[in-house]
Amino acid sequence: MALTISLIYGSVRSDRQGIKAVKYLEKRLLERGINVYLIDPLEDTLPLLDKMYKEYKPGTAPEPMEKIARLLKESDGFLIVTGEYNHSIPPALKNLLDHFQQEYYFKPSAIASYSAGSFGGVRAAVHLRVIVGELGMPAISSMLPFPVISDLFDDNLVPKNNRIDNSTSRFLDQFEWYIKAFKAQREIGVPC
Ligand SMILES: Cc1cc2nc3c(=O)[nH]c(=O)nc-3n(C[C@H](O)[C@H](O)[C@H](O)COP(=O)(O)O)c2cc1C
Repeated sequence: MALTISLIYGSVRSDRQGIKAVKYLEKRLLERGINVYLIDPLEDTLPLLDKMYKEYKPGTAPEPMEKIARLLKESDGFLIVTGEYNHSIPPALKNLLDHFQQEYYFKPSAIASYSAGSFGGVRAAVHLRVIVGELGMPAISSMLPFPVISDLFDDNLVPKNNRIDNSTSRFLDQFEWYIKAFKAQREIGVPC
């Protein structure tokens, strides 16, 4: 059966640039025969955190929250695309992630990052690694930084930097391996 990955984006800025990396990764995942759920807080808006999803009685959470919970539950892994805001992750991404908990458990995550500058958001990626560990979706060791995001892709989502295609292939190869390993182990059972 095909694997399903939630591709999670966290910028809600009107002129957001990271959507280019998100669309590129969506294309690369689809080419590998993977089902992709794009989770975008600009499309499915959550409030600033009041109650976590688990604090609502079943079926009573706001519709975007119910929808995102369902997509996360159905996923085998989470590919998170983070920008870098003041050396950490965007507030909309943290807000989205914090609403959920059990939906992530015993599934791996992978971190792609981007920024306006040449470091490609790696400082935010390192923060995100700590957060996903606490959320129960440990990150694979590879990270995928996209530098100078505003000028990295042409109109057909082809990277202008010829290292990006190869580094993305290696990153997704590793992520798929972890997803399959975790999935096989979840089928045997998970600790209480
Ligand atoms: C509030 C804010 C803080 C930022 N801080 C950093 C930073 O610490 N390091 C960096 O490389 N770029 C920083 N930038 C520039 C972003 O990398 C760039 O604007 C990027 O396109 C933001 O992602 P988005 O367009 O998907 O929202 C910052 C941008 C914003 C809006």
